[in-house]
Amino acid sequence: MATLGVIALLCASVALTHAYNARHEVRKFPDGFLFGTATASYQVEGAWDADGKGENIWDRITHTNPDHIMDKSNGDIADNSYYLYRRDVQMMRELGLDLYRSSISWTRILPSGFPDKINEAGVQYYNNLIDELLKYNIQPMMTLYHWDLPQKLQDLGGWANPEIVTWYADYSRVVFKLFGDRVKYFITINEPYLVCNSGYGGDKLAPALNSTGIGEYMCAKHLLLAHAKAYHIYDDEFRPSQKGKIFISFSAQWYEPISDSAADVEAAHDANQFEWAQYSWPIYSETGDFPPEMKKRIAARSAEQGFPRSRLPEFSPEEIELVKGTSDFFGLNHYTTNQIYRNASVPQFNVPSIEDDLGVGSYTPIEWQLSETSKTKYVAWGFTKLLNRIKDAYKNPPVFITENGIGTRDGMNLIDDDRVTYYRGYLDALLDALEDGCDVRGYTAWSLMDNFEWTDGYTTRFGLYEVNYDSIYRTRTPRKSAYVYRELLRSRSLDHHYEPDLTQPLTIAPGH
Ligand SMILES: *[C@@H]1O[C@H](CO)[C@@H](O)[C@H](O)[C@H]1NC(C)=O
Ligand SMILES: *[C@@H]1O[C@H](CO)[C@@H](O)[C@H](O)[C@H]1NC(C)=O
Repeated sequence: MATLGVIALLCASVALTHAYNARHEVRKFPDGFLFGTATASYQVEGAWDADGKGENIWDRITHTNPDHIMDKSNGDIADNSYYLYRRDVQMMRELGLDLYRSSISWTRILPSGFPDKINEAGVQYYNNLIDELLKYNIQPMMTLYHWDLPQKLQDLGGWANPEIVTWYADYSRVVFKLFGDRVKYFITINEPYLVCNSGYGGDKLAPALNSTGIGEYMCAKHLLLAHAKAYHIYDDEFRPSQKGKIFISFSAQWYEPISDSAADVEAAHDANQFEWAQYSWPIYSETGDFPPEMKKRIAARSAEQGFPRSRLPEFSPEEIELVKGTSDFFGLNHYTTNQIYRNASVPQFNVPSIEDDLGVGSYTPIEWQLSETSKTKYVAWGFTKLLNRIKDAYKNPPVFITENGIGTRDGMNLIDDDRVTYYRGYLDALLDALEDGCDVRGYTAWSLMDNFEWTDGYTTRFGLYEVNYDSIYRTRTPRKSAYVYRELLRSRSLDHHYEPDLTQPLTIAPGH
């Protein structure tokens, strides 16, 4: 008994040391771990119709239905990065970034959506940005599709039309040909779950089709095939000479059961499978198909509702082979965690809809909010759990964190302590996951600067740099979080006690 007591004591003290380390000691990131920041074309570029750019679905929705956006704003000017990209790169040099993630606007280089005509001015803009980054040792990471579909392709059905697989493949080939000599990280599609669920199955994001229970699943299938086609084009035609990486970025929150009852545990598992595994399972599992939990639930609900077949489309054996194994990194956009339950008080949803097919309720305790003005709930341990789930479910794939950050509704505010707390907590959780053996290779914080936050307009801010939208110069000013991030990158370690001297300007980091 005595021996057992000692062992128990030892275990308790190991656990305590772990928690103590996490909060009070400097923790080092592994050598070669890459740090950057992220943005996306529509959210920062502005110049919505400059130099021959074509109309996309966000131009259309913000112009025809301004009420769709909380402050009735749009991305016509946004951060004006089309003209101010040199200042953006200067900020990255101040932070000392290894890489910068942004996206290419499809209609800026192909105004009609098709490769019949390449818009040279648009190509020049991305060449200028890429060359400016490389000049200062910052690697570009470019997303091909971050939500701004050409309106002409939307008029033909967009992601619900199977032909989009070809349209997107053609576009991807143009991008690889134009930029792949210098861009070594390509992301095919950003957050498929939001593209399909909020744009096709729902009414939140453009094109807001609201085809609940139907549109999101048609979109999911075509999006996965389009991604896979682009992956193979890169792999076959460009990788041999360009030698880069290509992957997809999933949006994945963590869904935690609210209790340890079997029903809640299953509900949380299903929520994880419906959100992010909907897209990662076909690419990473042996089956090359949608998750079995999804197939089963949607088929059963479809039958009850009188549909002659499941509303979730099937993949042919050839399509399964096409999709399997098509991602060099598991791209991960992660923000928060929800508690999930399934019992008699699950709300009634639209019928049919993905919410109804999944059939769970969710709850987030008020304590998970850092303050009244912070929007993204702070639940850092959920990040560690998610990374461990990815490791266990998919044989420990290399992961790249392509988004993580906190949205705040505090307007102009340079002392952003909530953002500092959030980043420190989530990076600590990431270090925990690395200790657990998760293979995370890099991290790009969302976001370099405040930008157009979709239906929130400019009411929610995510920036390490504040942007002044009252000024025609869109002046950018580093927040406290920018100072903290710079020190983190300089030291390659996390020190919760570091207090920056905010009276000193941020100068260019050594090596940049
Ligand atoms: C979307 O469809 C649901 C019914 O499926 C309806 O309740 C909702 O009001 C619709 N939204 C819009 C913006 O029309
Ligand atoms: C369902 O679960 C939630 C979360 O635990 C709880 O608040 C609620 O009372 C439960 N409802 C029923 C009917 O059991």
